Amino acid sequence: MDNFIVTTVRKPTPDVEKLAEEISSKLGGKFVTREDFSFDKLKKLHGTENILLVKKNSLSVVTGDGELFFHPNTAHLRIKNLREGDGDRLIDALKISDGSTVLDCTLGLGSDAIVESFIAGSTGKVVALEINPLIAEIVRRGLKNFSDDSEHVLTAMRRIEVVNVAAENFLPTCADNSFDVVYFDPMFRRPVKKSSGLNAIRPLADGRPLSTEIVREAVRVAKFRVVMKEHRGSDEFARLGFKIVDGGKYSSVTFGVIEK
Ligand SMILES: C[S@@+](CC[C@H](N)C(=O)[O-])C[C@H]1O[C@@H](n2cnc3c(N)ncnc32)[C@H](O)[C@@H]1O
Repeated sequence: MDNFIVTTVRKPTPDVEKLAEEISSKLGGKFVTREDFSFDKLKKLHGTENILLVKKNSLSVVTGDGELFFHPNTAHLRIKNLREGDGDRLIDALKISDGSTVLDCTLGLGSDAIVESFIAGSTGKVVALEINPLIAEIVRRGLKNFSDDSEHVLTAMRRIEVVNVAAENFLPTCADNSFDVVYFDPMFRRPVKKSSGLNAIRPLADGRPLSTEIVREAVRVAKFRVVMKEHRGSDEFARLGFKIVDGGKYSSVTFGVIEK
């Protein structure tokens, strides 16, 4: 991805400016000094819609649809519910527990991966893949540095291993049965509009449908099952061979599973 520039907040400290230059050489976007320009002016001057913004303790991307930054989002409440003995629909579909190993092929903003990591615990493992380099970088740094949450959430966040790679390129490098479960949460064929948490991610996220090949590879790599989240009534479950396991009567999303 090269259609972006890297800049800082106005009046950056030398550390922030240095970090912006490092990130620019790592990810390939051109570094430009912020001076006193507005985002709109910078976009016009540099012919891009996307600005990777480096701040003192975090990164964000300013896209045409808003500002994308890392936040645990729903993970906080879901972990609280799990700790109080309530269920979680994803965890019920994955059927994971302490010590499980999870390959999450679609990291996005990482909420699902944080909940998986909370359940897998210190003896388990969550590897999370993200094809877009800007999303991967923001979320990798957020998982490492975000500090405004409970110890349970932060510990789960720190354990996640983020890889900036396409799942179709990573899966073939994995041995048979090398993760207990493989999980996909692709961008829905029909976006759930009220899912505003995902609005800013949309211009950057890869929206291709899953291929039958990628699902076949996931089945080879999973020891127990492959799980996919999609919108209720999606034809993707039947097309890709997933059995719908979760009614979730009042929810707009559903989980499908391929058991081995
Ligand atoms: C709906 S979001 C995932 C949301 C995530 N489950 C969460 O809890 O925040 C889908 C993400 O997967 C990424 N993605 C889509 N196809 C991919 C692929 N083939 N390999 C790796 N990442 C992919 C998209 O760029 C996007 O960031």
